[in-house]
Amino acid sequence: MKIGIIGFGAMGKTHLYSVKNIPFFFNTNIKAEVKWICTRNIDKAREAAQRYDVPFYTNNEDDVINDDEVDIIDICTPNNCHFETAKKAILAGKHVYCEKPVGTEEYEAEMLDTLAHDNKVYAQVVFNNRFLAPVMRAKELIEEGYLGRILSFSFKYQHSSALDINKNAGWKQNKDICGGGVLFDLGSHVIDLVLYLIDSKFKTVFGKEQIAFPKRKGIDGKEWETNADEAFYILATLENGAHGMIEVSKIVTGSNDDLTFEIHGEEGSLRFNLMDPNFLEVYKANSFDDTLGAYKGYTRIECVNRYPSPGGVFPSVKAPVGWLRGHIGSYFNFLDSINKNIAPEPSLKQAANVHSVMRMAYLSSELGKEVMI
Ligand SMILES: NC(=O)c1ccc[n+]([C@@H]2O[C@H](COP(=O)([O-])OP(=O)(O)OC[C@H]3O[C@@H](n4cnc5c(N)ncnc54)[C@H](O)[C@@H]3O)[C@@H](O)[C@H]2O)c1
Repeated sequence: MKIGIIGFGAMGKTHLYSVKNIPFFFNTNIKAEVKWICTRNIDKAREAAQRYDVPFYTNNEDDVINDDEVDIIDICTPNNCHFETAKKAILAGKHVYCEKPVGTEEYEAEMLDTLAHDNKVYAQVVFNNRFLAPVMRAKELIEEGYLGRILSFSFKYQHSSALDINKNAGWKQNKDICGGGVLFDLGSHVIDLVLYLIDSKFKTVFGKEQIAFPKRKGIDGKEWETNADEAFYILATLENGAHGMIEVSKIVTGSNDDLTFEIHGEEGSLRFNLMDPNFLEVYKANSFDDTLGAYKGYTRIECVNRYPSPGGVFPSVKAPVGWLRGHIGSYFNFLDSINKNIAPEPSLKQAANVHSVMRMAYLSSELGKEVMI
């Protein structure tokens, strides 16, 4: 399958990285290749195509959409561009992979859905958090009835990126481009997770938006009046009777990519924290309770890399999220040192020191006594 990526900022790069890595992570015969990078600035498109070995680049999405060889249009542009691009792509018979939130208005996603059905193409929206092992395990447990009747939930997605008022606002802080502030950006992820995991529609919402820094530098660096929510709070009731709270914010001091959720049922609870992404924590109300607590309490399930087939083949099932990053860092350090003509570390001498300790440890074990190194 040949893919054309439209919009090559943070997410364009992320999608390219994902496509290139699928053969490592999945035992699959599917062959997918990014043929085009299209982004507004032609120099950036050329640079990215050269850097990541993508054969074609352009700043005109029609070049990509009109390429008969392209099967999939991957949309990574700001929200206000999604609709037109997706519409053209579907009408040209291409499958669409589109970033969230789709467009800026509900009718856009609805129309695209109808259009995709009519034109017999597929579309998927990038609510990527559904594909994290602990989230998948949470879904499985809820479907098995582990929680019993769900009573309440609390979902938070907290960033700190809007706290620095000396930084120019990005397009995600301009409602004319993004369609909505943090509610659209982080809130769309969270609302999708509530709908997906609890599997019930919303019945009521009581929302409250917050703009804590009404004046900041705009995209052009000039003083500008913020028009997009920096935080949003929702008190919600679902059709299944569950009550809950949602907080999405870009003004939480000390946060990174803090997506957390808790879901509480009559028979159990579960909770997840994206900053601790190897684990899902679960609690069973009827677990054996006795002196000293017996087996009562939250259990941390090791989801790590235990994805179902054809995933979970690489890295090893026990490898935590982030383990590969250490390998990439190690390899880069080696190449970079050669490039700079400096001796890389860990060195052979340091490896010999490791051997020396191992040799003496064996000797000590053999002799049954402490030995000096
Ligand atoms: N799923 C996620 O985890 C996640 C995370 C961040 C952003 N997003 C979503 O991804 C989308 C892109 O966000 P981003 O953070 O990558 O933004 P970004 O600003 O980093 O990148 C957008 C890119 O699109 C280019 N662009 C703008 N208009 C264009 C046009 N008409 N044709 C071609 N290129 C154009 C820009 O030059 C820029 O390079 C948004 O919809 C956003 O909500 C999703």
